[in-house]
Amino acid sequence: MAKSIKIRVPGTSANCGPGFDCLGVSCTIYNDIELTLLKEQELKIYVEGEGAENIPTDERNLAWRSIRTLLGRVGAEGEYRGAIIRMQNGVPLSRGLGSSAAAIVGALKAANVLLGNPLDRRGLLQVATDLEGHPDNVAPAIYGGFTVSLVADGVPESFSFLPRLSLKLVVAVPDFHLSTKEARNALPSEVPMKDAVFNIGRAALLVGALAKGNASFLRNAFDDALHQPYRSKLIPGMYDVFAAAKKAGALGVAMSGAGPCIIAYTAERATEIGEAMVGAFREHGVGARFLALGVDRRGAHIVKD
Ligand code: HSE
Repeated sequence: MAKSIKIRVPGTSANCGPGFDCLGVSCTIYNDIELTLLKEQELKIYVEGEGAENIPTDERNLAWRSIRTLLGRVGAEGEYRGAIIRMQNGVPLSRGLGSSAAAIVGALKAANVLLGNPLDRRGLLQVATDLEGHPDNVAPAIYGGFTVSLVADGVPESFSFLPRLSLKLVVAVPDFHLSTKEARNALPSEVPMKDAVFNIGRAALLVGALAKGNASFLRNAFDDALHQPYRSKLIPGMYDVFAAAKKAGALGVAMSGAGPCIIAYTAERATEIGEAMVGAFREHGVGARFLALGVDRRGAHIVKD
């Protein structure tokens, strides 16, 4: 009988403010994917949970396209030509919480395990980055924790670390979608030197302060001049939501990935901060809910039922 595997993969928040396209954090919100590889050319895809009505269940499905890519990379495309895929999604779609990265990483890891692990985690990072286009969501989905990533000569490098302080992630989820493509189209092709300098200092400070557990340095470390100012017009009330989170006690606040979710980083008062963010969105006519999450430590892993 064909073997199956179930993988749990976290949602992720990229950029973390100043770390545009390089920083990311793995969040305690998950998609499960159960995969059976078939020798015959047959595809059955079942999707439940977040965004189920918008996810294709045919050849266009991102998880299936990821599996096909992996089969090709390891030379197994002739051996397995079909699959049964069951997805149970907890990560909201097109909101800046890494739903596409979760689909890619969950599918790649499931197929890799069923094939006897021909790729190590660096190999998975390469395939996932090629599929996603940038590593800042797929890296934390694979490794867990905070990740620092770059691509050099087409090869992604990433390391992950756990913050040495207790950090809660409060995510305000507005009830509209924003595609990464639209959010990237809002960016200029060049930025002023002073804005680049602004971000370099903050991104470095952020990584150092999290790794050492020095919360007092986080006060300015989540600020950004490279992407958020240009994207703010796509998210009504964005800076008022930032201000509300800080007033309620957040250490820092930023767009989650390319938005439209807003993520606040805090040591305490998560509920008050979430309610304040939702209230600020409401004042701009935007319905929203909030999620009180933590930092996921494991990344994608096998689930034993
Ligand atoms: N770093 C990317 C961006 C994340 O901000 O466009 C999007 O998934």
